Amino acid sequence: PLPDAVVIVLYGATGDLASRMVLPALDEVRRRGLVPEHWAVIGCSTEDLDDARFRDHVAEAVRAGGAGEDNTDAGAWIERVRYAGGGFTEDDAGELPQVLTEVSQQVGDAAGTEPLLVHFLAVPPGAFASITRGLGRHGLAEGSRVVFEKPYGTSLESFEELDRDVKEVLSEEQIFRIDHFLGKEGVQTLYVLRFANQLFGSEWDRSSVEQVQIDVPEDLDVTNRIRFYEETGAALDMIVTHLFQVAGQVAMEPPADLRDPDSVNDARERVLQAFRQLDPAQDVVLGQFEGYRQIDGAAPDSTTDTFAAVRLWVDTERWRGVPFLLRTGKRMATKAQRVTLVLRPPFGPLAEEMDVPNTVQIDISGDGEVRLGITVKTPGPELTYSSGTAVLELDDVPGGEPLSPYASLIHDVLTGDRSLFTTADGLRAAFTAFAPLQGKDRPVPAVYAPGSWGPAEARELPAPHRWMLGE
Ligand code: BG6
Repeated sequence: PLPDAVVIVLYGATGDLASRMVLPALDEVRRRGLVPEHWAVIGCSTEDLDDARFRDHVAEAVRAGGAGEDNTDAGAWIERVRYAGGGFTEDDAGELPQVLTEVSQQVGDAAGTEPLLVHFLAVPPGAFASITRGLGRHGLAEGSRVVFEKPYGTSLESFEELDRDVKEVLSEEQIFRIDHFLGKEGVQTLYVLRFANQLFGSEWDRSSVEQVQIDVPEDLDVTNRIRFYEETGAALDMIVTHLFQVAGQVAMEPPADLRDPDSVNDARERVLQAFRQLDPAQDVVLGQFEGYRQIDGAAPDSTTDTFAAVRLWVDTERWRGVPFLLRTGKRMATKAQRVTLVLRPPFGPLAEEMDVPNTVQIDISGDGEVRLGITVKTPGPELTYSSGTAVLELDDVPGGEPLSPYASLIHDVLTGDRSLFTTADGLRAAFTAFAPLQGKDRPVPAVYAPGSWGPAEARELPAPHRWMLGE
């Protein structure tokens, strides 16, 4: 349930992430009536602003984020916004303590109860530890919930170090680590589809599924984030984070209780722990699009990967021998986000004739879609077959009104539901499985043409099938 009152402190409040994602999502949550009656937001950053100027910034971010000019009562929530300058670190808490005391008092008086305190760290990961220590040092941690953006660690070692620092101040239950893919409607539908439908539930294993593809090609460029990208690359940016978590969502064993966050998190953790370490020699293709090294800010001999495709093995009884094919890249032919279960051929009288496999596809972009690739008789006089696709758009589901991933996750922070957040044990397992790609055996990225489907070497990974998206 929602608390009666909440105060949200947004660190990095004037930064890109806050403006593009967090503030518009907060507005979406508000418009949908998913906030407590009493709430306030304090923006915190190093910039020298006053309340009025920060409110302008919020209004602009909300407008640009899609709410538009007709968001008539945005004014009402602008009143709830305050600004605390001077930054916030371990050594110097800036203006925050003062502003927070005032705001908490106001909100608390109106609600007749002490507000829940949420710290939202929309800051570069380098600042996570210092801000968290600051929360401890300045007495702001107790009873609060703390939201961390991605990436929470960039290797097993850096994850362990960060988590050790954070755990000196916070307990795991207070920590909400965002992986916005888990907030996508299509990803949330995955386990409902499976556990609420015998049709899928009974087929969801190696006896019916031949392979799983999780395919996230992007046509985006990286020019405007080249510094981040040079240090990160496609595999670290997408595979060990978003695509591993989605793979966990597909592959988990049934949680004891789908409404109990601990039970869902346990199930996802356990399956992540069963991910076999990637084998760079056999199961990994990295790529770099032609022209990447000429981007201003890229090293002339950069080996950063802008494309990554891996064959992941999940060592559970359910999935033994079923490859999970994960692919993503920048400047590819198109933008899409699709999970596909490729089903085994049928038994029986038509078995020999079927050459297009049945598929269960979940489109996880936008509002999400469930698509079934099935074979039917080609209408007409002859007994011949065609494969077609039945599509259910999730925003057509009666009574449904999709939420954006960030809005969905912010709502879960407010209600205290951690089931769609990554856990320490889950991330530890993910970084462990991924570690061989960060060592001496990491393959050299192969060059691919911008606008293509990546290096030729990646075509063979799904054999005997092909990538379901693509040529
Ligand atoms: C981000 C990655 O986390 O996710 C980006 O850093 C990627 O590289 C993005 O483009 C994809 O997000 P979305 O919202 O398009 O699914």
